[in-house]
Amino acid sequence: CGIVGFIGKQEASPLLVEGLKRLEYRGYDSAGIATLSNGTIERRRAEGKICNLQQVLSTTPASGNVGIGHTRWATHGIPNKTNAHPHATEKVAVVHNGIIENFQEIRAELVKNGYHPLSETDSEVVPLLITYYLDQGANPRDAVSKTLKRLEGAFALGIIFAGEEDLLIGARRGSPLAVGFGDGEMYLGSDAMALAHLTKQIAYLEEGDWVILGREHVIFLDENDQEVQRDIKESAMSSALIGKGDHRHYMLKEIYEQPQVIGDTLSTFFNPTAQTISMPNFPFDLKNIPRITIVACGTSFYAGLVAKYWIEQYARIGVDIDVASEFRYREAPMQDGGLALFISQSGETADTLAALRYAKSQGQSILSIVNVPESSMERESDAVLLTHAGPEIGVASTKAFTTQLTVLACFAISLAKAKGAIDTACEARLCRAMAEVPSRTAEVLNHDEALRKIAQNVAEARDVLYLGRGSSFPIAMEGALKLKEISYIHAEGYAAGEMKHGPIALIDENVPIIVIAPMDSNFEKTASNTQESVARGGKVIFMASKEGVEKMADHCIATVTMPNVDPFVAPILYSIPVQLLAYYVAIHKGTDVDQPRNLAKSVTVE
Ligand code: G6P
Repeated sequence: CGIVGFIGKQEASPLLVEGLKRLEYRGYDSAGIATLSNGTIERRRAEGKICNLQQVLSTTPASGNVGIGHTRWATHGIPNKTNAHPHATEKVAVVHNGIIENFQEIRAELVKNGYHPLSETDSEVVPLLITYYLDQGANPRDAVSKTLKRLEGAFALGIIFAGEEDLLIGARRGSPLAVGFGDGEMYLGSDAMALAHLTKQIAYLEEGDWVILGREHVIFLDENDQEVQRDIKESAMSSALIGKGDHRHYMLKEIYEQPQVIGDTLSTFFNPTAQTISMPNFPFDLKNIPRITIVACGTSFYAGLVAKYWIEQYARIGVDIDVASEFRYREAPMQDGGLALFISQSGETADTLAALRYAKSQGQSILSIVNVPESSMERESDAVLLTHAGPEIGVASTKAFTTQLTVLACFAISLAKAKGAIDTACEARLCRAMAEVPSRTAEVLNHDEALRKIAQNVAEARDVLYLGRGSSFPIAMEGALKLKEISYIHAEGYAAGEMKHGPIALIDENVPIIVIAPMDSNFEKTASNTQESVARGGKVIFMASKEGVEKMADHCIATVTMPNVDPFVAPILYSIPVQLLAYYVAIHKGTDVDQPRNLAKSVTVE
């Protein structure tokens, strides 16, 4: 979910909506705003995307120059209008990001006292509890202070009060919140991006902080209600909203940007004269790292999985890897002096952020790979490597993934070198292979038309299998994830050698099998596994170099001929055809490619 708040001179509602559009990546199940109109709370809400809220506002505007807004990714309660934020009583309106874990207990108590919730959400207990304290005679500030002390869980809040024209309160526990400073105006937002159209002067609330905003003043308070100072920083976030260019969807535009953004990312590490790759100075010594733990979610997790293959093979350092939602709670012992590596496009994913904090508590050095500068993960890490993918708008990640792989490949090479695990010849080979990636990626995009045809076939399937071995196994999983996300077809990515232990039972002529088989030391094994599927009537789509395709073409219903590259960089290049395939299947099915149902670009609740 994303939240915004405004207190100033102008009409709040259009500015709130603009802020929400910038936060739509956090969810689009429903959206709403509340303003103070002559001291009375006016509320407008709509199910679905922000454009639906805009429609509501065009027929029934909400006036006033104080307000809060919210875009929701549903946790408790279905995504209908009743469950949409803001939640309000006559006295107070609240927007909430996160989860109130003890809401049932508070709700029972409120009901006993005669305060009845209207929605199924955990969030609604917040305005009800504040109202309860107001009714008991507390002023708004004290009512919020008392309420905050009752809430358990991770959350961020924005609050306005009936009759209080110069008051907007924000609170942060677990979920990020930023304050923007204007001229006679103040703003609240889940991140600097939400406020980029209003100001560049940003201060972030620290854990447990809450903040009282008026048009001319900002008071930060810590969890003990003591006034504190928080630094104002100049945000570098651009205020421009990103367009689709000539492309039909952001996703396609972003797929096509890959040669450029991979090149941009590579150039931050690559020295073209020496043809070498180097890392910035880290506050830890690569040479001494005994073990690496990689944690991420979704597509970023698969990038991490490729990195495990690279780092173990070339740098000879053991890598543990886990999805953040598991890692954060499994109380993993972590080796002294270890490095914990977090990968996230947004830098805001709640589980990954919590995992980062756990690793920090275990004395690990923290390195993050993020695409969004000024994100929470960037701010909380010891060192950061940026992917230069530019804003990624499509919910299904594409260019963020391949730029993450680019950074990870460069990191693996540097690590291998620092450890003395590769000789100069091997280093030179890997660097040369990396240097070729941008142009090779452009070459792969030429397969667009062929993949569009193959997609017709795949679009009719109910289940699809993706197979690969070694560093192609994560690409198989990423391919399956892409297809699931945007075409709603069930797909699984499997280690090709593991097929015979179960999934092979699924194979018949209705289950397309996409095989990712670059010419590496695993090729022959993957080819054999493919034959095992063909022998059982499987319809195989084979992605390999010319040599590989020639060997297998007779057994497959379709092939995709990939450039013959060093196996080290194959995962980056083979990402492209699986992205395009998923895209064209979704086009055939007519689904909402850029904003698929139920998903959010960045999941800021656990
Ligand atoms: C969501 C998105 C995925 C993304 C994942 C992790 O599930 O839909 O595309 O891979 O979050 O996001 P992050 O911003 O941490 O990379």
